[in-house]
Amino acid sequence: MAKKSKIKIEPDNFEQEMTTIWSFKERGSWATHNPNYRGNWSPYIPRNILLRYSKEKDLVLDQFVGGGTTLVEAKLLNRNCIGIDINSEAIKLCKKVIDFDIPKAGNITLIKGNAQNLSKIKDKSIDLICTHPPYANIIKYSDGIKNDLSLLKVNDFIDAMKPVATESFRVLKDDKYCAILIGDTRKNGRVIPLGYRVMKIFLNAGFKLKEIIIKEQHNCKATGYWKSSSLKYNFLLLAHEYLYIFVKDKAKVINRTKKERYTVIDNKTGETCSLDDLIIDGIL
Ligand SMILES: C[S@@+](CC[C@H](N)C(=O)[O-])C[C@H]1O[C@@H](n2cnc3c(N)ncnc32)[C@H](O)[C@@H]1O
Repeated sequence: MAKKSKIKIEPDNFEQEMTTIWSFKERGSWATHNPNYRGNWSPYIPRNILLRYSKEKDLVLDQFVGGGTTLVEAKLLNRNCIGIDINSEAIKLCKKVIDFDIPKAGNITLIKGNAQNLSKIKDKSIDLICTHPPYANIIKYSDGIKNDLSLLKVNDFIDAMKPVATESFRVLKDDKYCAILIGDTRKNGRVIPLGYRVMKIFLNAGFKLKEIIIKEQHNCKATGYWKSSSLKYNFLLLAHEYLYIFVKDKAKVINRTKKERYTVIDNKTGETCSLDDLIIDGIL
């Protein structure tokens, strides 16, 4: 059997992100990371998520695994990880990028499947969800694979994300985190707030918001055609995405009082929540 070459297991001078704005000018090329899978995320994103919201030996899920960036980071950081993608080409690529040996490596499981139906995964079995769905049809990942969410226009995409959110909620353990990166889009000069709409879906599925992180985009083309169009038609180039950190905090009961007002009581603290909380939570 051919001997595998040694890999660089971490970035130089790495420091964990400390604020709600994340910006990685160098996308990161340690281990087997490369920019070849279109629209893949910088490995600094899953590295930060895994370090902050999981511990060694935890079981992580990325149900839109693409070229396998999350898997590489999970393996390097000694987290076990399930990677799912609807496209068998993505699964093939993942097999390549996780093919390295290090002394303390997380176990990786690859599944060709649909993020809308995680029937192979038991209820409350996942310690962290760390994922990056398509942004509707901004980048099409296949020519016609059934259930490929990257083929859907915005409204259909939003509908298709509902079962993704409920399945995420089902498989995650209580008090654990679900991190989703998503960006907005623009049509006829108007912003379509895809990020906000996806956030609402996850709140409606039962998640609570832990953080909203703004991730700066560095591949935004502020030159040539796009620069002149943005000046001519007076729009700003979208240069950020949202990294939502949701938490599965199930300890809430909802009661309707006689006055048809809502009272929400936190089972743990006994505290009641305001009407604003309910609106933000998508309950009202
Ligand atoms: C933005 S890419 C993920 C990129 C990944 N973060 C990386 O770094 O390589 C989104 C992925 O979702 C996959 N996908 C689309 N619909 C899916 C579905 N219903 N279930 C699972 N994966 C799906 C696409 O094939 C694509 O690989």
